[in-house]
Order: sequence, then C-alpha cells, then structure tokens
Amino acid sequence: MKNRIILFLIFVIGLFANNCLQAQQKDILAATPPMGWISWNLFEGNISESIVMELADAMVENGLKDAGYQYIILDDLWHGGRDENGKVYPDKTKFPNGMKVVADYVHSKGLKFGIYTDIAEYTCAGMVGSLGFEESDAQTYAEWGVDYIKCDYCHAPEDLWTAIDRYNKFIKAVRATGRPMVFALCEWGQRAPWLWGEKVDAQLWRTTWDLRDTWEHGKYNGGHNGIMESLDRQVGLEKYAKPGRWNDPDMLVIGLNGTGASSSANGANGCSVIEYEAQFGLWALLSAPLLMTCDIRDMDSDTKRILTNHELIAVNQDKLGQQAKRIFKDDSKEIWAKQLHDGSWAIGFLNRNNNSVCKISLNFAELGIEQPKEIRDLWLHKNLELQNSDVLTLKVKSHECRVVKITSQ
Ligand code: GLA
Repeated sequence: MKNRIILFLIFVIGLFANNCLQAQQKDILAATPPMGWISWNLFEGNISESIVMELADAMVENGLKDAGYQYIILDDLWHGGRDENGKVYPDKTKFPNGMKVVADYVHSKGLKFGIYTDIAEYTCAGMVGSLGFEESDAQTYAEWGVDYIKCDYCHAPEDLWTAIDRYNKFIKAVRATGRPMVFALCEWGQRAPWLWGEKVDAQLWRTTWDLRDTWEHGKYNGGHNGIMESLDRQVGLEKYAKPGRWNDPDMLVIGLNGTGASSSANGANGCSVIEYEAQFGLWALLSAPLLMTCDIRDMDSDTKRILTNHELIAVNQDKLGQQAKRIFKDDSKEIWAKQLHDGSWAIGFLNRNNNSVCKISLNFAELGIEQPKEIRDLWLHKNLELQNSDVLTLKVKSHECRVVKITSQ
C-alpha cells in the first residue's frame, strides 16, 4: 500500500512538472528551434513578392509545413530606402505592393514571416541598416506583421560593449511594440554571444561565419566554413541552449548542390547526399534552427526525404531543448548525444574519415543506461536488433552521421 501511494505521488508530481513545462513553453518565444526557409544562399538579391508567394505555396504543397516548417524569411537586399520620416520601405520593383501584402499572404497560408536588418548604418550588402531607427523599424515591422527578425552586425564597431548596447536597444524597441517577434542576432560568434544573448533577450545567436555549401574547407574564416568547421565550433556551447535560447550554426545547405551564390564561394561546390544527411542529423542533434535555403519549389526526392525526416525533426524540436554534446572523439570518429524530454537519448555516430568505413562504439554506461529497451535508427526508420551487450557498435560510412534513439525505460 505504501509503495502504491509513493508511486501515485511520483506520478502526480511528474504530471504537474510536465504541465508546468508546457504552460511555460506556451509563453516562450521560439520554445523550440525555429524551422523555415531563408532567402540568402540561393536567391540573394533575386527576391520578390512573387517569389515569396511561390515559396509559401511550395512550403504547404510539398508537405514542408506539415513537417513543421513555419517561417519564410527574407534576408538582405529587400530594402528600398527610407522616406522623409525615416520610415523604411522595400524595393518597389521587387515588392510593388509593399511588405504587408507579402506578410499577409504568408500568414494566409498558416505560415510566419521574417525579415533581415543590420544594427549599423548599412546592411552587409549595403542596404539601409537600423542604427538610429530602432524604434521606427521595430514599429514598421510590427505593422507589416513580421514574426522573425534577423539582425546582422556588418559595418558596426568590433568591441563587445557596442554590440551588447546596440542589440539591447533594438530588442527593447522590438519588445515595446507588443508583437512577439523572434530576434536572431548575427555577429558570427565573434564576441561570444552565447554569454550575453539571453540578457539582451535574443532568441538565437549565430555562432559561426557563414556556412558554405561544402563538407570541410580545412580553413575557418569569413570566406571558408564547411559543415565540419561549423560543427567544431559548437563544442562546449551546449550549456547555453534551452527553450527560447539557441545557438545558431547557420543555414541548411541541403539541396543546394553547389548552385548557391556566396554559399558556393571559394570552391564550395556542394555536398554528397550522405553529407547533406549528416548536416540534417547533426543540426537536429544540435537543436539548431532548421532554415532551408534550397529551391523548395523544385526539390529532388533526396532533398525532400532529408528535409522531412520526421523522426529527426522530432529530435530537433524536443521540448526539453537540450543541445547535443560531443561525448567521444577519436581522430575522425565522433559521438554526439542529446537527451530528450522522456529520458531517451538521440545519439549521432559521425565518421569524418574521407575514405573508409569505420566502426564506432558507444558504451551505454556513459549515458547512465543500464539496459536499452529500444534502439531505433532514425534514418532507416526501424528498430535495431537488441544485442546482449553493454556496447552498441555501428558501422558508419565515410562522412555519414548515423542517428539512433535509445530508450531505456
Ligand atoms: C552576412 C550574414 C549572412 C547574410 C548576409 C547578407 O554575411 O552572415 O547570413 O545574412 O550577411 O548580406
């Protein structure tokens, strides 16, 4: 009887804790990593009202909305200028009916709308920035119905204090509008934004330079950054991720196949299908924003299969909001582990070797797992046969990242 009462109490407390988590998450902006599409890698300046509308249609028709993608975000080069009152307006050729019409259309499809600016006089591509116009721009975006703001740091001073000060001021103005707009700051991880992003109330902060459409450059700087260089920069950042606060290792290059503009700079000629799968699996484990950049109006079957892998999306969107930690590295073999809200684990087995297949082993004890009940392969969508062993050994192909979910209770 006593045991029953204890079990009942544990059940009630568990239920209460879960309800509290759910209630809190309703009020949190970007309680799970934002999912959507952003214009930069493929379109750069070649954006327009009709393209946004076509993309919103495609998002719905291709099953991406059902898979969880929500945002259509216009990156740089949408701007026209400022009117005599300082109010920003879009390029009149690209957006002849103004931005509200575009946002309304996106909303009419049950999607959300995002926009780009910069916290200096000019954006990275030389358009009008928001410095000195923070209140006016925040108000204008709210009037248009913007749901997501990406704010860059080109042309701004290098020091940390100016960055904190400028973002703080702008985000305050954004919050003062009363419209819940996700704020994604983008100073490329140069001033450790994971240490102060939450204080200024940003929901995301870029942790790296722009990602190019390539596996590995062997260099890391503003012009060279492959999937592996971006990944390496996430090590140790897991402690800063939680619901509403995300490290952002930049956009998904899946499906670009070397056709992007600046994302194909410096010999970034695209990735193999296995490498694109690896980016998706790793970004899911990292609780990174899943922002597609390929032409979703015309995806090949592999691109669509990768971007709509619902089991990996569930890992990315897990409500606990943990970011995977690299728990093992031996030369080119790595293991990344993310705990999920139900106590299970999503584990990535990554082989960075350029030529050969390898075997990677995980000792369950490392995760405090005594006996797994189920091991599910999230790419094969099937359960693996349970071995009577303390260790899981997987064969991993060159540049592959196998992802399994291990349930033990
Ligand atoms: C910077 C950002 C990119 C993109 C471009 C637009 O390079 O890091 O993600 O927004 O500016 O000009």
